[in-house]
Amino acid sequence: MYHCLDTSQFDRRLLEEISELADAARFISKSKEGADWLSGLLSHKRAMLYFVQPSTRTYLSFLSACQILGMQTADVRDTSTSSEVKGETELDTVRTFSSYYDAIIMRHYKANFAREIADMLDKTNRPVPVINGGAGKDQHPTQALLDIYTLRKSFEQRGGIDHKKIAFVGDLMRGRTARSLSRLLTRFENVKQYFVAPDFLQIDSGVLSVLDRLGISYELVDDIHKVLPEVDAVYLTRLQDEWDDQDKTAGHYFIENYALTMENVGLLRQHAVIMHPLPRRQEISYEVDSDPRAVYWRQVRNGMWARVALLAKIFGVEQEIKQV
Ligand code: NCD
Repeated sequence: MYHCLDTSQFDRRLLEEISELADAARFISKSKEGADWLSGLLSHKRAMLYFVQPSTRTYLSFLSACQILGMQTADVRDTSTSSEVKGETELDTVRTFSSYYDAIIMRHYKANFAREIADMLDKTNRPVPVINGGAGKDQHPTQALLDIYTLRKSFEQRGGIDHKKIAFVGDLMRGRTARSLSRLLTRFENVKQYFVAPDFLQIDSGVLSVLDRLGISYELVDDIHKVLPEVDAVYLTRLQDEWDDQDKTAGHYFIENYALTMENVGLLRQHAVIMHPLPRRQEISYEVDSDPRAVYWRQVRNGMWARVALLAKIFGVEQEIKQV
């Protein structure tokens, strides 16, 4: 593991390893002595957080993960404060970061930009790892990692992720989290995926052709009520209307038909889990937060530890954590 660019890099063994590393680091951090030890592990490394698309959780979660491992950080979150306004290309801007920092963690509105950056840096005499913290409508590999980590913990007493049924609900056409998690779920045995969305927001054929090629079973559904009683996990997503054309409005969509409320949450099985990458709008009513099946706030916390594990792996200190 050098760059972390997309979900195709993660096979099952690596997913298990990252989850176990996350658990180990989390356990070590419980004592002051352990937390101090963790913060010495990467105190010789510094990271650049280049997040030019809005972010709360992913940005803070990477920042916290760096802090836990003792890495110092800097950030650019707004290109209006960078030399890009003087006409510098984004490639040159990022190459500048690589002159100062040991890793570039980035979120960008262009789908392929993290890979472009990685390819460009690989040809320089100072390549550094690039970590994709969300790329356009396409990939969000570290969200998928934390989602797998959360599912694994949720199903610990129920045989793990294998043989489970998982429904994605909402704006699946433009949501990179559903696409990314769908791919990682193919690493497990016999997991059935449901895609619940109105036709015009349904998951694209690229994702489905991967599932077809791998012989994974899935269903396209337009009614949330049909899948709630069937599944082990429901993964809600918000309307991604930042991608709308100018003349469309959010009111155009019937997102209320793709929400979990006090009226329909009772349809879920007793052991099912409720997930959401957040931010949410109306897809999950606030009353649902106190339902024991709701794990979306746990996902937030798990994300920090999954990113600690990923950074430890990228910088080659995973054995030290495992040996404690
Ligand atoms: C998601 C994202 O940015 O893709 N948020 C996140 O990273 N947790 C989901 C979203 O914005 O809807």
